[in-house]
Amino acid sequence: MSKQADSGLWDGLVVDCQLATLVGEQGVGLIEHAAIGWKDGRIMFADAMSALPDQPQALSDRVESAQRKLVTPGLIDCHTHLVFGGNRAHEFDLRLQGASYEAIARAGGGIASTVSQTRSLDDDALLAASMPRTRALIADGVTTLEIKSGYGLDLENELKMLRVARKLGSQLGIDVRTTFLGAHAVPVEFSGRQDAYVDLVCEEMLPAVANSGLADAVDAFCESIGFTPAQTRRVFECARSLGLPVKLHADQLSDLGGAALSAEFAGLSADHIEHTNLDGVRAMAAAGTVAVLLPGAFYALRDTQLPPIAELREHGVPIAVATDLNPGTSPLLSLRLAMNMACTLFRLTPDEALRGTTVNAAKALGLTDRGRLASGMRADFVIWNVGKPADLCYWIGGSLAEKVFVRGEPLSRWPG
Ligand code: NIG
Ligand code: FE
Repeated sequence: MSKQADSGLWDGLVVDCQLATLVGEQGVGLIEHAAIGWKDGRIMFADAMSALPDQPQALSDRVESAQRKLVTPGLIDCHTHLVFGGNRAHEFDLRLQGASYEAIARAGGGIASTVSQTRSLDDDALLAASMPRTRALIADGVTTLEIKSGYGLDLENELKMLRVARKLGSQLGIDVRTTFLGAHAVPVEFSGRQDAYVDLVCEEMLPAVANSGLADAVDAFCESIGFTPAQTRRVFECARSLGLPVKLHADQLSDLGGAALSAEFAGLSADHIEHTNLDGVRAMAAAGTVAVLLPGAFYALRDTQLPPIAELREHGVPIAVATDLNPGTSPLLSLRLAMNMACTLFRLTPDEALRGTTVNAAKALGLTDRGRLASGMRADFVIWNVGKPADLCYWIGGSLAEKVFVRGEPLSRWPG
Protein backbone atom coordinates (compact mmCIF):
# COMPACT_ATOMS: atom_id res chain seq x y z
CA MET A 1 0.00 0.00 0.00
CA SER A 2 1.44 3.41 -0.96
CA LYS A 3 1.84 6.29 1.46
CA GLN A 4 -1.00 8.19 -0.19
CA ALA A 5 -3.43 5.34 0.35
CA ASP A 6 -2.67 5.77 4.07
CA SER A 7 -3.15 9.51 4.12
CA GLY A 8 -5.75 9.92 1.36
CA LEU A 9 -5.21 10.98 -2.23
CA TRP A 10 -3.93 14.42 -3.05
CA ASP A 11 -6.60 16.84 -4.33
CA GLY A 12 -4.60 17.54 -7.48
CA LEU A 13 -1.29 16.89 -9.17
CA VAL A 14 0.26 18.79 -12.09
CA VAL A 15 3.02 16.81 -13.77
CA ASP A 16 5.61 17.56 -16.43
CA CYS A 17 6.15 21.22 -15.65
CA GLN A 18 9.11 23.56 -15.26
CA LEU A 19 8.75 24.55 -11.64
CA ALA A 20 10.07 27.90 -10.41
CA THR A 21 9.94 27.12 -6.70
CA LEU A 22 11.56 30.36 -5.51
CA VAL A 23 13.15 28.25 -2.79
CA GLY A 24 16.68 29.39 -1.93
CA GLU A 25 18.37 32.70 -1.28
CA GLN A 26 18.96 33.58 -4.93
CA GLY A 27 17.55 32.82 -8.35
CA VAL A 28 14.17 31.20 -8.85
CA GLY A 29 14.90 27.63 -7.71
CA LEU A 30 14.01 26.14 -11.09
CA ILE A 31 13.33 22.40 -11.25
CA GLU A 32 12.88 20.93 -14.72
CA HIS A 33 10.61 17.91 -15.33
CA ALA A 34 8.87 18.65 -12.08
CA ALA A 35 5.47 18.06 -10.48
CA ILE A 36 3.34 19.83 -7.91
CA GLY A 37 0.73 18.08 -5.77
CA TRP A 38 -1.60 19.53 -3.16
CA LYS A 39 -4.27 18.66 -0.63
CA ASP A 40 -6.59 20.79 1.52
CA GLY A 41 -5.17 23.95 -0.01
CA ARG A 42 -1.57 23.15 0.92
CA ILE A 43 1.31 21.90 -1.19
CA MET A 44 2.19 18.25 -0.54
CA PHE A 45 4.89 17.90 -3.15
CA ALA A 46 6.89 20.35 -5.32
CA ASP A 47 9.92 18.63 -6.76
CA ALA A 48 11.33 16.62 -9.65
CA MET A 49 9.05 13.99 -11.19
CA SER A 50 11.71 11.43 -10.39
CA ALA A 51 11.17 12.13 -6.68
CA LEU A 52 7.42 11.40 -6.77
CA PRO A 53 6.64 8.73 -4.17
CA ASP A 54 4.42 6.74 -6.55
CA GLN A 55 2.90 6.72 -10.04
CA PRO A 56 0.93 9.96 -10.60
CA GLN A 57 -2.42 8.12 -10.95
CA ALA A 58 -1.83 6.44 -7.59
CA LEU A 59 -1.30 9.81 -5.92
CA SER A 60 -4.36 11.72 -7.14
CA ASP A 61 -7.53 11.34 -9.17
CA ARG A 62 -6.89 14.75 -10.65
CA VAL A 63 -3.65 14.53 -12.64
CA GLU A 64 -2.94 17.10 -15.30
CA SER A 65 0.07 17.39 -17.59
CA ALA A 66 1.44 20.90 -17.98
CA GLN A 67 3.28 19.81 -21.12
CA ARG A 68 6.54 21.34 -19.94
CA LYS A 69 5.01 24.72 -19.24
CA LEU A 70 6.24 26.99 -16.49
CA VAL A 71 4.62 26.89 -13.05
CA THR A 72 5.35 29.64 -10.52
CA PRO A 73 3.88 30.68 -7.19
CA GLY A 74 0.81 32.90 -7.58
CA LEU A 75 2.05 36.45 -8.04
CA ILE A 76 1.71 38.86 -5.13
CA ASP A 77 1.02 42.53 -5.81
CA CYS A 78 2.17 44.05 -2.52
CA HIS A 79 1.33 47.74 -3.19
CA THR A 80 -1.87 48.97 -4.82
CA HIS A 81 -4.47 51.71 -4.38
CA LEU A 82 -6.99 50.03 -6.63
CA VAL A 83 -10.16 50.98 -4.75
CA PHE A 84 -11.10 54.45 -6.00
CA GLY A 85 -13.80 56.40 -7.81
CA GLY A 86 -13.40 58.08 -11.20
CA ASN A 87 -10.05 58.41 -12.89
CA ARG A 88 -7.48 61.13 -13.62
CA ALA A 89 -6.90 60.79 -17.34
CA HIS A 90 -7.05 64.59 -17.66
CA GLU A 91 -3.98 64.83 -15.40
CA PHE A 92 -2.14 62.57 -17.80
CA ASP A 93 -2.89 65.18 -20.43
CA LEU A 94 -1.77 68.03 -18.16
CA ARG A 95 1.51 66.27 -17.38
CA LEU A 96 2.14 65.74 -21.08
CA GLN A 97 1.73 69.49 -21.47
CA GLY A 98 4.42 70.06 -18.84
CA ALA A 99 2.60 70.25 -15.47
CA SER A 100 4.35 68.32 -12.68
CA TYR A 101 2.65 65.85 -10.31
CA GLU A 102 3.45 68.19 -7.41
CA ALA A 103 2.06 71.28 -9.20
CA ILE A 104 -1.19 69.45 -10.01
CA ALA A 105 -1.49 68.32 -6.38
CA ARG A 106 -0.81 71.82 -5.05
CA ALA A 107 -3.51 73.21 -7.37
CA GLY A 108 -6.12 70.94 -5.76
CA GLY A 109 -5.96 68.10 -8.27
CA GLY A 110 -4.12 64.86 -7.68
CA ILE A 111 -5.10 62.78 -4.67
CA ALA A 112 -7.70 65.39 -3.58
CA SER A 113 -9.66 64.97 -6.79
CA THR A 114 -9.81 61.18 -6.34
CA VAL A 115 -10.90 61.73 -2.73
CA SER A 116 -13.99 63.63 -3.79
CA GLN A 117 -14.87 61.03 -6.44
CA THR A 118 -14.33 58.18 -3.96
CA ARG A 119 -16.39 59.83 -1.22
CA SER A 120 -19.31 60.23 -3.61
CA LEU A 121 -19.67 56.46 -4.18
CA ASP A 122 -21.40 54.03 -1.82
CA ASP A 123 -19.97 50.58 -1.06
CA ASP A 124 -21.65 48.90 -4.02
CA ALA A 125 -20.64 51.52 -6.57
CA LEU A 126 -17.07 51.55 -5.28
CA LEU A 127 -16.97 47.76 -5.45
CA ALA A 128 -18.28 47.80 -9.02
CA ALA A 129 -15.69 50.41 -10.03
CA SER A 130 -12.83 48.42 -8.50
CA MET A 131 -13.85 44.96 -9.68
CA PRO A 132 -12.52 45.13 -13.28
CA ARG A 133 -9.14 46.36 -12.05
CA THR A 134 -8.89 43.45 -9.65
CA ARG A 135 -9.94 41.00 -12.35
CA ALA A 136 -7.25 42.37 -14.66
CA LEU A 137 -4.57 41.69 -12.05
CA ILE A 138 -5.87 38.17 -11.39
CA ALA A 139 -5.95 37.40 -15.12
CA ASP A 140 -2.26 38.20 -15.14
CA GLY A 141 -1.47 35.72 -12.36
CA VAL A 142 -2.07 37.61 -9.10
CA THR A 143 -3.37 35.51 -6.18
CA THR A 144 -2.57 37.83 -3.25
CA LEU A 145 -3.12 41.54 -3.42
CA GLU A 146 -2.53 44.45 -1.08
CA ILE A 147 -4.99 47.33 -1.25
CA LYS A 148 -4.58 50.63 0.58
CA SER A 149 -7.21 53.07 1.74
CA GLY A 150 -6.26 56.75 1.49
CA TYR A 151 -8.90 58.24 -0.80
CA GLY A 152 -11.48 58.60 1.96
CA LEU A 153 -9.52 60.71 4.46
CA ASP A 154 -12.29 60.62 7.05
CA LEU A 155 -13.23 57.68 9.20
CA GLU A 156 -16.42 56.75 7.41
CA ASN A 157 -14.88 56.80 3.93
CA GLU A 158 -11.63 55.12 4.95
CA LEU A 159 -13.62 52.27 6.51
CA LYS A 160 -15.72 52.08 3.35
CA MET A 161 -12.59 51.64 1.24
CA LEU A 162 -11.22 48.93 3.52
CA ARG A 163 -14.55 47.08 3.53
CA VAL A 164 -14.71 47.20 -0.26
CA ALA A 165 -11.11 45.98 -0.52
CA ARG A 166 -11.88 42.95 1.65
CA LYS A 167 -15.06 42.28 -0.30
CA LEU A 168 -13.14 42.21 -3.60
CA GLY A 169 -11.06 39.41 -2.13
CA SER A 170 -13.99 37.38 -0.87
CA GLN A 171 -16.01 37.83 -4.08
CA LEU A 172 -13.15 37.01 -6.43
CA GLY A 173 -11.57 34.23 -4.38
CA ILE A 174 -8.16 35.77 -3.82
CA ASP A 175 -6.50 36.97 -0.64
CA VAL A 176 -6.64 40.74 -0.18
CA ARG A 177 -4.44 42.32 2.50
CA THR A 178 -5.56 45.79 3.52
CA THR A 179 -3.47 48.78 4.57
CA PHE A 180 -4.79 51.91 6.28
CA LEU A 181 -3.36 54.99 4.51
CA GLY A 182 -5.23 57.76 6.32
CA ALA A 183 -2.05 59.87 6.14
CA HIS A 184 -2.08 59.98 2.35
CA ALA A 185 -3.04 63.64 1.92
CA VAL A 186 -4.69 66.40 3.92
CA PRO A 187 -8.40 66.54 3.06
CA VAL A 188 -9.84 69.91 1.95
CA GLU A 189 -11.75 70.38 5.20
CA PHE A 190 -8.38 70.40 7.04
CA SER A 191 -6.65 72.67 4.54
CA GLY A 192 -3.87 74.60 6.33
CA ARG A 193 -4.38 72.49 9.47
CA GLN A 194 -2.16 69.55 8.71
CA ASP A 195 -1.28 68.76 12.34
CA ALA A 196 -4.94 68.80 13.30
CA TYR A 197 -5.56 66.17 10.61
CA VAL A 198 -2.69 64.07 11.97
CA ASP A 199 -4.37 64.36 15.41
CA LEU A 200 -7.55 62.99 13.86
CA VAL A 201 -5.67 60.13 12.17
CA CYS A 202 -3.90 59.19 15.40
CA GLU A 203 -6.59 59.80 17.97
CA GLU A 204 -9.76 58.76 16.18
CA MET A 205 -9.22 57.06 12.86
CA LEU A 206 -6.43 54.65 13.71
CA PRO A 207 -8.01 53.30 16.92
CA ALA A 208 -11.34 52.82 15.15
CA VAL A 209 -9.70 51.15 12.14
CA ALA A 210 -7.70 48.85 14.43
CA ASN A 211 -10.85 48.04 16.35
CA SER A 212 -12.72 47.23 13.13
CA GLY A 213 -10.13 44.58 12.23
CA LEU A 214 -10.26 45.86 8.65
CA ALA A 215 -6.55 46.77 8.32
CA ASP A 216 -3.51 44.51 8.30
CA ALA A 217 -0.96 47.35 8.26
CA VAL A 218 -0.54 51.14 8.32
CA ASP A 219 1.11 53.29 5.63
CA ALA A 220 1.76 57.03 5.16
CA PHE A 221 2.93 59.34 2.37
CA CYS A 222 6.08 60.96 3.74
CA GLU A 223 6.85 63.72 1.25
CA SER A 224 6.89 67.49 0.74
CA ILE A 225 3.37 67.23 -0.69
CA GLY A 226 2.43 64.61 1.91
CA PHE A 227 3.41 64.40 5.58
CA THR A 228 6.64 65.39 7.31
CA PRO A 229 8.89 62.80 8.94
CA ALA A 230 7.75 64.10 12.36
CA GLN A 231 4.08 63.64 11.45
CA THR A 232 4.81 60.23 9.95
CA ARG A 233 6.58 59.25 13.17
CA ARG A 234 3.45 60.13 15.16
CA VAL A 235 1.33 57.93 12.91
CA PHE A 236 3.84 55.08 13.27
CA GLU A 237 3.97 55.41 17.06
CA CYS A 238 0.23 55.20 17.18
CA ALA A 239 0.19 52.17 14.85
CA ARG A 240 2.78 50.47 17.02
CA SER A 241 0.77 51.10 20.17
CA LEU A 242 -2.20 49.41 18.44
CA GLY A 243 -0.08 46.45 17.34
CA LEU A 244 -0.27 47.20 13.61
CA PRO A 245 2.83 46.82 11.41
CA VAL A 246 3.92 49.78 9.26
CA LYS A 247 5.20 50.44 5.75
CA LEU A 248 5.90 53.74 4.03
CA HIS A 249 5.71 55.71 0.78
CA ALA A 250 9.30 56.83 1.21
CA ASP A 251 11.72 59.11 -0.63
CA GLN A 252 9.76 59.08 -3.89
CA LEU A 253 10.19 62.71 -4.90
CA SER A 254 12.83 63.84 -2.38
CA ASP A 255 15.06 62.36 0.31
CA LEU A 256 13.34 62.89 3.64
CA GLY A 257 14.94 59.87 5.31
CA GLY A 258 11.72 57.92 4.87
CA ALA A 259 13.31 54.52 4.27
CA ALA A 260 15.32 54.83 7.51
CA LEU A 261 12.18 55.93 9.34
CA SER A 262 10.28 52.86 8.17
CA ALA A 263 13.22 50.67 9.20
CA GLU A 264 13.37 52.32 12.62
CA PHE A 265 9.83 51.06 13.23
CA ALA A 266 10.75 47.60 11.90
CA GLY A 267 8.66 48.49 8.84
CA LEU A 268 7.56 45.69 6.57
CA SER A 269 8.66 47.80 3.61
CA ALA A 270 9.80 51.14 2.28
CA ASP A 271 8.21 51.80 -1.09
CA HIS A 272 9.30 53.86 -4.15
CA ILE A 273 12.68 54.88 -2.56
CA GLU A 274 14.06 56.59 -5.67
CA HIS A 275 15.85 59.18 -3.49
CA THR A 276 16.88 56.93 -0.59
CA ASN A 277 20.51 57.41 0.46
CA LEU A 278 23.04 54.85 1.65
CA ASP A 279 22.12 55.31 5.32
CA GLY A 280 18.55 54.44 4.43
CA VAL A 281 19.68 51.33 2.57
CA ARG A 282 21.82 50.25 5.53
CA ALA A 283 18.93 50.81 7.94
CA MET A 284 16.63 48.71 5.75
CA ALA A 285 19.18 45.92 5.58
CA ALA A 286 19.59 45.90 9.36
CA ALA A 287 15.83 45.89 10.00
CA GLY A 288 14.90 43.39 7.27
CA THR A 289 12.67 46.03 5.66
CA VAL A 290 11.78 45.15 2.05
CA ALA A 291 12.46 47.65 -0.75
CA VAL A 292 9.28 47.80 -2.85
CA LEU A 293 10.06 49.17 -6.30
CA LEU A 294 7.22 50.77 -8.25
CA PRO A 295 8.36 51.22 -11.84
CA GLY A 296 4.85 52.11 -13.04
CA ALA A 297 4.94 55.40 -11.11
CA PHE A 298 8.52 56.03 -12.22
CA TYR A 299 7.45 55.52 -15.82
CA ALA A 300 4.19 57.51 -15.66
CA LEU A 301 5.89 60.49 -13.99
CA ARG A 302 8.79 60.22 -16.44
CA ASP A 303 11.06 60.17 -13.42
CA THR A 304 14.81 59.99 -13.99
CA GLN A 305 16.09 59.36 -10.46
CA LEU A 306 16.70 55.61 -10.23
CA PRO A 307 16.28 53.76 -6.92
CA PRO A 308 19.62 52.71 -5.40
CA ILE A 309 19.57 49.22 -6.93
CA ALA A 310 23.31 48.50 -6.66
CA GLU A 311 23.32 49.50 -2.98
CA LEU A 312 20.23 47.41 -2.24
CA ARG A 313 21.94 44.40 -3.80
CA GLU A 314 25.21 45.05 -2.07
CA HIS A 315 23.57 45.26 1.36
CA GLY A 316 21.25 42.32 0.77
CA VAL A 317 17.97 44.25 1.04
CA PRO A 318 15.12 42.08 -0.31
CA ILE A 319 13.63 43.73 -3.41
CA ALA A 320 9.94 43.49 -4.28
CA VAL A 321 8.13 44.84 -7.34
CA ALA A 322 4.50 46.04 -7.37
CA THR A 323 2.09 47.87 -9.65
CA ASP A 324 1.22 50.79 -7.31
CA LEU A 325 -2.06 50.64 -9.25
CA ASN A 326 -3.64 54.07 -8.66
CA PRO A 327 -5.46 56.68 -10.74
CA GLY A 328 -2.73 59.32 -10.56
CA THR A 329 0.79 58.05 -10.90
CA SER A 330 0.39 54.44 -11.97
CA PRO A 331 -2.75 53.32 -13.81
CA LEU A 332 -1.02 49.99 -14.36
CA LEU A 333 -3.24 46.90 -14.58
CA SER A 334 -0.57 44.23 -14.99
CA LEU A 335 1.97 43.04 -12.43
CA ARG A 336 3.83 41.26 -15.20
CA LEU A 337 4.22 44.58 -16.98
CA ALA A 338 5.61 46.02 -13.73
CA MET A 339 8.16 43.18 -13.82
CA ASN A 340 9.06 44.04 -17.39
CA MET A 341 9.48 47.71 -16.42
CA ALA A 342 11.58 46.77 -13.39
CA CYS A 343 13.95 44.98 -15.75
CA THR A 344 13.97 47.58 -18.50
CA LEU A 345 13.93 50.76 -16.40
CA PHE A 346 15.68 49.63 -13.20
CA ARG A 347 17.88 46.88 -14.70
CA LEU A 348 16.62 44.17 -12.39
CA THR A 349 17.34 40.71 -13.72
CA PRO A 350 14.26 38.65 -14.68
CA ASP A 351 15.05 36.38 -11.71
CA GLU A 352 15.08 39.38 -9.37
CA ALA A 353 11.81 40.61 -10.84
CA LEU A 354 10.15 37.22 -10.21
CA ARG A 355 11.53 37.08 -6.67
CA GLY A 356 10.10 40.59 -6.34
CA THR A 357 6.55 39.48 -7.09
CA THR A 358 6.66 36.22 -5.12
CA VAL A 359 8.91 35.51 -2.16
CA ASN A 360 9.93 39.11 -1.48
CA ALA A 361 6.45 40.48 -2.07
CA ALA A 362 5.16 38.02 0.55
CA LYS A 363 7.77 39.35 2.96
CA ALA A 364 6.67 42.93 2.24
CA LEU A 365 3.23 41.88 3.49
CA GLY A 366 4.56 39.95 6.48
CA LEU A 367 3.35 36.64 5.00
CA THR A 368 5.39 33.47 5.36
CA ASP A 369 2.95 30.91 3.98
CA ARG A 370 3.19 31.82 0.29
CA GLY A 371 5.48 33.15 -2.42
CA ARG A 372 7.38 29.85 -2.70
CA LEU A 373 6.40 26.39 -3.88
CA ALA A 374 7.34 23.94 -1.13
CA SER A 375 5.56 21.39 1.06
CA GLY A 376 3.25 23.03 3.56
CA MET A 377 2.92 26.34 1.70
CA ARG A 378 -0.43 27.56 0.34
CA ALA A 379 -1.23 25.94 -2.99
CA ASP A 380 -1.37 29.29 -4.80
CA PHE A 381 0.28 28.86 -8.19
CA VAL A 382 0.01 29.68 -11.88
CA ILE A 383 0.48 27.53 -14.97
CA TRP A 384 1.86 29.87 -17.63
CA ASN A 385 1.74 29.62 -21.38
CA VAL A 386 5.51 29.96 -21.53
CA GLY A 387 8.42 27.69 -20.69
CA LYS A 388 10.99 29.84 -18.90
CA PRO A 389 10.82 32.29 -15.98
CA ALA A 390 12.46 35.06 -18.03
CA ASP A 391 9.61 34.84 -20.57
CA LEU A 392 7.30 36.41 -17.96
CA CYS A 393 9.38 39.61 -18.04
CA TYR A 394 10.23 39.47 -21.72
CA TRP A 395 6.73 39.64 -23.17
CA ILE A 396 5.16 43.08 -22.98
CA GLY A 397 1.43 42.65 -22.51
CA GLY A 398 -0.55 39.64 -23.73
CA SER A 399 -2.29 37.08 -21.55
CA LEU A 400 0.17 34.44 -20.49
CA ALA A 401 -1.52 32.97 -17.42
CA GLU A 402 -3.20 29.75 -18.47
CA LYS A 403 -4.58 28.66 -15.10
CA VAL A 404 -4.50 30.41 -11.75
CA PHE A 405 -4.91 28.28 -8.60
CA VAL A 406 -5.72 29.64 -5.16
CA ARG A 407 -5.46 27.15 -2.29
CA GLY A 408 -5.51 24.40 -4.88
CA GLU A 409 -8.69 25.51 -6.66
CA PRO A 410 -8.61 26.88 -10.20
CA LEU A 411 -9.93 30.42 -9.98
CA SER A 412 -12.74 29.82 -12.47
CA ARG A 413 -14.34 27.67 -9.78
CA TRP A 414 -14.60 30.58 -7.40
CA PRO A 415 -17.68 32.77 -7.36
CA GLY A 416 -17.65 36.11 -9.16
O1 NIG B 1 2.03 55.65 -4.63
N1 NIG B 1 2.42 58.98 -3.77
C1 NIG B 1 1.38 58.76 -3.18
N2 NIG B 1 0.49 57.84 -3.49
C2 NIG B 1 0.34 57.25 -4.76
C3 NIG B 1 -0.26 58.19 -5.72
C4 NIG B 1 -1.64 58.42 -5.40
C5 NIG B 1 -2.35 59.32 -6.36
O2 NIG B 1 -1.75 60.17 -7.03
O3 NIG B 1 -3.57 59.17 -6.41
C6 NIG B 1 1.63 56.64 -5.24
O4 NIG B 1 2.27 57.06 -6.21
FE1 FE C 1 1.48 54.08 -3.71
